Amino acid sequence: MKRFIEELLPIKEISEESAREKNIRHGHISTLHIWWARRPLIASRATVYSALVSAENIEEKKKFLLKIAKWETSLNKELIEKAREEIKKESGGRVLRVLDPFSGGGSIPLECLRLGLETHAIDYNPVAVLILKCVLEYPQKYGRPQKVVEQKGFYKEEKQESPLIKDVQRWGEWVLESAKKEIGRFYPTDEDGSIPVGYLWARTIPCQNPLCGAEIPLIRQFWLAKKEKKKISLYPFVYNKRVEFAIVKKEGNQWKVLESSVEGFEPKVPENFDPEKGTVARAKAVCLVCGSTIEDDDVRRLFREGKASQRMTAVVLSTQKGEGKSYRLATEKDLEFYRLAEEYLEEKRKKLWEEWGIDPVPDEEMNTKDPNTVAGRGYGFTKWGDLFNSRQKLALITFTEKVRLAYKKMLEEGYDKDYAKAVVSYLGLGVNRLADYNSMQCVWHVSKELVAHTFGRQALQMVWDYIEVNPFSKATGNWADSFGYLLGVLSHLTQIPPVEAEE
Ligand SMILES: C[S@@+](CC[C@H](N)C(=O)[O-])C[C@H]1O[C@@H](n2cnc3c(N)ncnc32)[C@H](O)[C@@H]1O
Ligand SMILES: [Zn+2]
Repeated sequence: MKRFIEELLPIKEISEESAREKNIRHGHISTLHIWWARRPLIASRATVYSALVSAENIEEKKKFLLKIAKWETSLNKELIEKAREEIKKESGGRVLRVLDPFSGGGSIPLECLRLGLETHAIDYNPVAVLILKCVLEYPQKYGRPQKVVEQKGFYKEEKQESPLIKDVQRWGEWVLESAKKEIGRFYPTDEDGSIPVGYLWARTIPCQNPLCGAEIPLIRQFWLAKKEKKKISLYPFVYNKRVEFAIVKKEGNQWKVLESSVEGFEPKVPENFDPEKGTVARAKAVCLVCGSTIEDDDVRRLFREGKASQRMTAVVLSTQKGEGKSYRLATEKDLEFYRLAEEYLEEKRKKLWEEWGIDPVPDEEMNTKDPNTVAGRGYGFTKWGDLFNSRQKLALITFTEKVRLAYKKMLEEGYDKDYAKAVVSYLGLGVNRLADYNSMQCVWHVSKELVAHTFGRQALQMVWDYIEVNPFSKATGNWADSFGYLLGVLSHLTQIPPVEAEE
């Protein structure tokens, strides 16, 4: 008997829905962990269904397929149950067993599970295996909602609750609080109560003109916020042979100076100042003090020779009054806290190194021959740890340590070992998300006022000016935000009904 897929597959409709799926964030497994080759769920679902039912009554089946091949019907009990029954009926009443030996990010096995198959998933990449466990195994094994009774005053309240979600949330909060207790002091709140969302940095090189030697901040473009009704930019100006900055706001055709880094001096900003024009393009830099240019090969050489440095330019804040993000120039005090974090990193790194027997900051070699990563571009980046600044390293090793401690504590509290492993796996994914949003590869997305994560592109390019986030803020790129996404995915996955495996 011919299969549906042998006769037809509504490619156009499936492609449209699959493309739309790319914009779905909340609850989608792509927010659990990136996997480059991950297939769209819709295309996977459509393929699995149409490969398993016959071509009989094909028009009717096509209509049904188009109904289930939508993200919005992913948890529709009635439709998914109908698809499961149909597949089972057409398989002679048996639950089919399926093996995906190259499961990767888990889309195909997830849709097999959703459509009621006994699903087995394999991959030889350990990251994929972790993703697969968190997508397929743990939510089914430990996540199914259970009846819980809570005593509320005089009456007992009954509700459905997923123990896994509850524990991931609880321990995610525990990790956050423990990390904050230890390193929260390196991200101080402003005096007016504004919380730093992140710190903007520019890499720097010395001007090669022997008569100049000024520090060149390497900045692709100067915008901070580039929205229809909010146009704020950094404005570079030269003062005492040094590049200084002002924060300027566009009002009509004029640029209004909000703040200047030189006390008592306000630069005049020409009407035609164009924030798009930075100091570096295609690795070629220009000195704003003397106007000389530095060729790309020299820029790379200066980095390799350790002559490059970095300068904090501005701080992004989330104001208490809910007015969105605001910006101010970086101060000596901001730098002081960074230096303190840098000192503390050395102490903590040593301590963890002794405890764990490995360098807690990733010291594995990068492939210096691969031009798709900054390591292969001749800037002298050689180790994975080179992608993070000192405070980022401190944040990541501290969160990692707390995740490991959470596991220990769970065992002390009498958790089953395998269950604790499941909970801690999601916490580990939380650290991965933090690393994705807090490396020197992250830039400030000026039209959305968000952090653009490391893996926005399938390459790790040279990034000249980057944002370092405050993992404890309540805004973009922070730990709590990442957990919101993780819990959203878990909530989706734990609602997929179980499949009774046959003997
Ligand atoms: C194209 S990707 C699969 C993508 C997957 N369908 C998804 O939706 O994410 C191929 C996968 O095969 C895995 N792989 C390659 N060779 C393998 C092998 N010999 N054994 C197991 N897995 C392998 C890779 O790690 C990768 O995850
Ligand atoms: Zn110069």
